[in-house]
Amino acid sequence: VPLHNGNRDLTLDILEALESTEPFQTQSQFPDVPQAEIKAALDRLASRSMVEYDTQDREIVVLTAEGQQIADEGSHEYKVWKAVKESGKLSIKELPQKVAAESAKVGQGNAFKLKWIKKDGDSLVPIADSVQDVTRELLEHVATNAAFPDPKQLKDYQKRKLVATQKQIAYKVRKGPRWAKEIPVEVTDLTAEMLEDGSWQTANFKPYNFKALGANQNSGALHPLNKVREEFRKIFFNWDFIEMPTARFVDSGFWNFDALFVPQQHPARDLQDTFYVSDPPSSGPPGPDPIADAALDEMEADSATFSTSTSKSSKLDYAKYASDVCAVHETGAFGSIGYRYPYNEAETTRLVLRTHTTAVSTYCLHRLAANPRPARYFSIDRVFRNETVDATHLAEFHQIEGVIADYGLTLGGLMDFLASFFKKLGITNLRFKPAYNPYTEPSMEVFGFHAGLDKWVEIGNSGMFRPEMLLPMGLPEDLRVYGFGLSLERPTMIKYGVSNIRELLGHKVDLGFIESNAAVRLDKD
Ligand code: PHE
Repeated sequence: VPLHNGNRDLTLDILEALESTEPFQTQSQFPDVPQAEIKAALDRLASRSMVEYDTQDREIVVLTAEGQQIADEGSHEYKVWKAVKESGKLSIKELPQKVAAESAKVGQGNAFKLKWIKKDGDSLVPIADSVQDVTRELLEHVATNAAFPDPKQLKDYQKRKLVATQKQIAYKVRKGPRWAKEIPVEVTDLTAEMLEDGSWQTANFKPYNFKALGANQNSGALHPLNKVREEFRKIFFNWDFIEMPTARFVDSGFWNFDALFVPQQHPARDLQDTFYVSDPPSSGPPGPDPIADAALDEMEADSATFSTSTSKSSKLDYAKYASDVCAVHETGAFGSIGYRYPYNEAETTRLVLRTHTTAVSTYCLHRLAANPRPARYFSIDRVFRNETVDATHLAEFHQIEGVIADYGLTLGGLMDFLASFFKKLGITNLRFKPAYNPYTEPSMEVFGFHAGLDKWVEIGNSGMFRPEMLLPMGLPEDLRVYGFGLSLERPTMIKYGVSNIRELLGHKVDLGFIESNAAVRLDKD
């Protein structure tokens, strides 16, 4: 954008122009200054009552590239006539060598019609000695006046793509009550000296601009996933759930699979589905995680449900637990016939990127056996699956998981709990479909009716944990546990209207979207 008049202040030019021409129209007075610059200068002056102005919206006619060419060089028919005239007689075949192909095509017919040239055998000969190129004259007129002398011609020229119309904003400017040839010196601060010497009474204070928008500040922003996560955390905390420590993404096959009664041949444990860690490839035998235990101790002490009892996790015998898990797979135990296959110790210590947060739930449930009692745990964190990445799947995503342990729990209680949980998200219509998980029986997929999409969408997975999983932990037989899981991405994508998961997570994320996205309330749509 060229600076108006070098570095000169446009406001001075506007004030000066008003001295000789009042009112004036900005488009004719300052044709080359961008409209936004003019508006800014006018607003500065208008806020000081030095000018007043009205906005004028009008439609102007401009030349297209082809129109401009005709205005500069003449019409196609003129070019044809000129070429014929100059050679006296021109064979039709040679015409395209003398004029551009487009002119030869369009111009010939028009030149015939206008009786400027005629055919003579295979050649063209001139009729007129001199011609008036009306089209060119008209376009020259449009170029200087931005309008047609006869507006009826506009349609025709538009159709020939020689002109187009544009909206133009211009301002009609007149002097305001405090017009002067320049902006007087303005005082921006009231000082002690001004109060003392009384000059404040006559000082010309710069007016406040209450309409000015503050400059955009650089600031951090919460990721949409974090915002939705916070909403879910609030729901869980309000129901006195304890947040499980899920910071460790790498876990052993034992916690991710074996302790969950997932047989070692299960397809989920294949390389195609699970990322295994190669360095180091394996862990030690199952044992306590002091960091997780400390975090749980602290949260349980704060919880209304737990405050009366301490966990006494030192009572736990991890070696016995590991051998009981082995027994329940290999030979059957605790009233179960088991899977009856040779259990491979090496699989239990293989390190994996955890495929679900249920690995952590399992650790917490085993820990609960030190002091069995009703408990509610949740977590919202990242999991990893060796998936083909597409618009709705990534190799890593976030799981929301809840686990409830209590005496006398029933499947109906789980359905009821899920109904009240999803009601918090504004989903009131649920359907349950029998499903299969190695660690729950019965298992149910949860479907919710999505009014926006007008269809049933799968929103979660759930079930009652199997005795084969709970009894080796040392939990009492009548303590039932149910659990459920869902992805954090699905509700976030729905809330923010994102249809491709890669817009939400990964290297293609637009930081502008992350910074500008609105806050979210799960229960308000
Ligand atoms: N782990 C399950 C999943 O990955 C979710 C689930 C958690 C199911 C707890 C039942 C009980 O989808």
